[in-house]
This record gives sequence, C-alpha cells and structure tokens, in this order.
Amino acid sequence: MSDKDVTILAIESSCDETAAAVVRNGREALSGVISTQIALHKEYGGVVPEIASRKHIEKITPVVEEAVRMSGVALNDMDAIAVTCGPGLVGPLLVGVSFAKSIAFALNKPLIGVHHIEGHIAANFVAHPQLEPPFACLVVSGGHTHLVVVKDYGEYEIIGRTRDDAAGEAYDKVARAIGLGYPGGPKIDRLCREQGDPLSIPFPQSKVTGTEYDFSFSGLKSAVLNYINQMEMKGEAIDTANLAASFQHAVVMSLVNKTMHAVEEYGFTRLALAGGVASNSYLRAKMKEACEERGVQLFYPEPLLCTDNAVMIGSAAYYEYMKGVRHGYDLNAYPGLVLGEKV
Ligand code: KG4
Ligand code: ZN
Repeated sequence: MSDKDVTILAIESSCDETAAAVVRNGREALSGVISTQIALHKEYGGVVPEIASRKHIEKITPVVEEAVRMSGVALNDMDAIAVTCGPGLVGPLLVGVSFAKSIAFALNKPLIGVHHIEGHIAANFVAHPQLEPPFACLVVSGGHTHLVVVKDYGEYEIIGRTRDDAAGEAYDKVARAIGLGYPGGPKIDRLCREQGDPLSIPFPQSKVTGTEYDFSFSGLKSAVLNYINQMEMKGEAIDTANLAASFQHAVVMSLVNKTMHAVEEYGFTRLALAGGVASNSYLRAKMKEACEERGVQLFYPEPLLCTDNAVMIGSAAYYEYMKGVRHGYDLNAYPGLVLGEKV
C-alpha cells in the first residue's frame, strides 16, 4: 500500500441489504460483504421497513467487522468512512448513517455521505477500471429509473426518468401477480431464459408525452393485470412463461428504445447500465444489440455489483473524498434525496 492510496470503509443499508466494503482508490474492492434480508421479506411480498430496520441493527456490526477483516486493512488505517445517506427507507438508512458516524467519531476519521444512485453508477468504475466520464448511464433499480449524463465524477444531468413505477418495481409487481414471488426481477429473468415467447402477447410500450426520454411502466403493469383478469373470466389457462416473457420484452424494449433515442440525439459513444435491473439478461442482450448497431460501447457491472452493495458506495465516496467533500456529525438520513443534490 502506498502513502497516496486512499482506502475507504463503506456502508450501505438503504433497503433490505446490510452491506459493508473496503475500497481502494475508488476502483479496487479489497472486500465486500452483503447480508440480504430477502428470505425475511418474502412472505410479505415486499420489503417491510420496520422489519428491515431491526435486521440492519442486528447485522451491521458483524457485517462491518467481516468486511474490515477480509480487507486485511486495520480499521485505524482507513482514510474515511462512507455511508449511503439517501434515498431509501428512512429507518434502514438511519442505522447505517448512525453506525458510520459512530466509527468516524471514535476513530476521528472523515465521514462521507453518499447518494445511493451515485453508488449504483460508480459500480461501473470498479467493474471497468478504464471507464471515465463523460458517458451516459441508464439507472434501473427497484426504486429508480433514470437516464443520466455522467458529465464528470459526481456531476450528473438527469435527462429522463420514470413518471410512475420504476422498472424493478414493475418486475416485482408483475411477478407477484403471476405467483412467482419476491423479488420478482431475478425470478422473471430466470424463467424467461429457458421458456416463454417474448412476442406471444403484444403488451404496449410506454408512451409518455412531454419529455422525450421519460419512462412509464404503470400502464404496462395494468395491461398485464387486465390480461390476467380477462383470461380468468374466460376460464382460460395462462401461460406464465409467455406472459412473463412478453411483459419483459415490453419493459426492456421501452428502456432500449428511449435510451437509443437519447444516444442518437446527444451523440453518446459510451453507455453504462446500473442498478438491480441492469443484471437482467434480456436487457443486457437487447441493449448490446442496439449499441453494436450504433457503434456505442456498452458497460455494465457483474450482477453482484448491480444490486445493492457497499463496494459501489466506497467507489463513489472516493471521488467525493478527492474533491474534499467531508460531512459533519449532523449528517442525516435523506429518504427522498435527489441525484446531484448536495447534503
Ligand atoms: O438496485 P437494487 O438492488 O435496489 C434498489 O436500489 O432498488 O434493485 C432491486 C431491484 C428489484 O426490483 C429487483 O426485482 C430488480 O432490481 N432485479 C432484477 C434482476 N435482479 C434484480 N430485475 C430484473 N432482472 C434481474 N435479473
Ligand atoms: Zn439500489
């Protein structure tokens, strides 16, 4: 380790994953630990905030200890403590923020609050050491669907967003309606890799008037629910795989078409995917096809870096650290924090 190296301990607890990681120079994960609560929330069909908060409290100490141990770096040798401070669920966020503040205070280390979406974007910096801004990034998670211009490290312009449901949310709701359970995204992805004709049911792609690059998925969700009702009323059996594949086709083609429209208008030559839905195999394949046709370079992180993790938070924090960003012990949890907004 050289004197110039910057080693950051990062914590993420904005939803249902308690995660900690140690990241060097924004690009190298020395360790990464994720404790998922999926099994706990499964029976409720979605994340129960109160249960999530309690579980974070239980897990945060062992998860952070494990990340520090695995990294081989002593806690006292960390250059900064980073934590997701928003957006997300307020209770879960508060657990991470309070924990990070305590460590920073006890060790007298700088504290850096990180925007969760900024973290998702930064996962690409760990996965692709040669990737540098500017580039376009499609952020598709359970809570967000944003088309972002990454102008520089920590500098973003959101050019498109969802008007209603996020892409991951649509996956989760449709999966629940067809009995696949929570979390729906990976289940639909898995089912459709083996079965289902994506062109069997012509579901509508979102039409949004006004802003060219905005998305909408609630109409599609309603179309799927109507289809299920109609089939049930007619007493006809539903082919779950065909339904899932057709839904997925509509979501993915809407994401691909809007993104490609922006790529052409703005002349982007590099596009990154980020967020939980970025691990979707159909999205990756369709986006790859579209990018190849246009000579656009496509980047996406490995699945473990797409869904919530702390490595991405440690990466985003590094660039803030280098700019001199430091937060005080009054750092709070900001459930509705907007990308680019400073805390
Ligand atoms: O980024 P993430 O872990 O958490 C948020 O910040 O929201 O994203 C979780 C979302 C969930 O809606 C989940 O169903 C979806 O990402 N997801 C997927 C896949 N893996 C996770 N959606 C489609 N295909 C996948 N393979
Ligand atoms: Zn996330």
